[in-house]
Amino acid sequence: IHNGLGSTPQMGWNSWNHFHCQINETLIKETADAMVSTGLAGVGYTYINIDDCWGEQNRDSQGNLVAKASTFPSGIKALADYVHGKGLKLGIYSDAGTQTCSKTMPGSLGYEVQDAKTFASWGVDYLKYDNCEDTHGISPEKRYKNMSTALLKSGRSIFFSLCEWGRDDPATWAPNLGNSWRTTGDIQDNWDRMTSIADKNDKWASYAKPGAWNDPDMLEVGNGGMTTEEYRCHFSIWALAKAPLLIGCDIRSMDNVTFELLSNKEVIAVNQDELGVQGKKVNKTGDLEVWAGPLAENKVAVVLWNRGSSTANITAYWSDIRLNSSIVVDARDLWMHSSHSSVQVQLSARVDSHACKMYTLTPH
Ligand code: GLA
Repeated sequence: IHNGLGSTPQMGWNSWNHFHCQINETLIKETADAMVSTGLAGVGYTYINIDDCWGEQNRDSQGNLVAKASTFPSGIKALADYVHGKGLKLGIYSDAGTQTCSKTMPGSLGYEVQDAKTFASWGVDYLKYDNCEDTHGISPEKRYKNMSTALLKSGRSIFFSLCEWGRDDPATWAPNLGNSWRTTGDIQDNWDRMTSIADKNDKWASYAKPGAWNDPDMLEVGNGGMTTEEYRCHFSIWALAKAPLLIGCDIRSMDNVTFELLSNKEVIAVNQDELGVQGKKVNKTGDLEVWAGPLAENKVAVVLWNRGSSTANITAYWSDIRLNSSIVVDARDLWMHSSHSSVQVQLSARVDSHACKMYTLTPH
């Protein structure tokens, strides 16, 4: 969509994966504080996104959405001011049906214009728009279009994140309506779910472009359900696939390993590369996979991903990653922060079970 936003995939934090409905304004403020104090803001994480459960069960007498008095007593505008004061942006959540997925607050169906104006008046910068409950039999495309139009007319620049779970092939229509669209059901903090979501999202790679991204759901890195190497794969593949990098853990108390995964500037640079082409699975031999995609200045990003149960050699051949056979490259290992000069024809590495290696190849 041409709203000037999302020229690279969005980066930030969202409350859902770790906190679900247990959210309040103190948590949001402390998260904004931590985003800056830890250095995550400095490497590009900008959005602080409130997910479901921020509002009262009912609209007020004028039909306006109301922040939940018990958990957001100062209101959303005050929170937006606070977050903006930190140099960050605030995101909020609503739903294209009659209620949100938690069923604890109203959805925006039939109230699109009013709610978009409310969000704009509060200084909200981002809307995640879910797809639960009664939809009055109206197609997703129409319901999402109504909110898209309302946001464009709201008087504020608001990033639009569609959350329709990939049911109605949103990649084929959502690029005209929003800045990103979910391609899958919800992620869970385990290896099987993470890998299957990566595969589902991969099918839609050709539809992604600057301003309009496939969204395989938010990051689980730091939530404890996967090993460090599994989280490294999760983050590497999300970065390569130009997925939104929305942190889903408690960054107020994350450990050093989590911080090091999430703050790797070289991996983030692949995600934020200005060419904006989604990397994808280019070769697979059993459980050994090569994922790759082009970057600006004729560079190529590569992930060697071992999904199997034992250590193995994985090879990316130039023919698979669309490099001319005569090309000689420098291969930068983005996790080891080391370079191999003059690599030709193929790039091979030994990769542990449930682990990956990630590189940027720069032609001579
Ligand atoms: C759906 C979405 C999730 C989250 C929850 C909130 O399941 O896909 O990302 O927003 O609703 O209830």
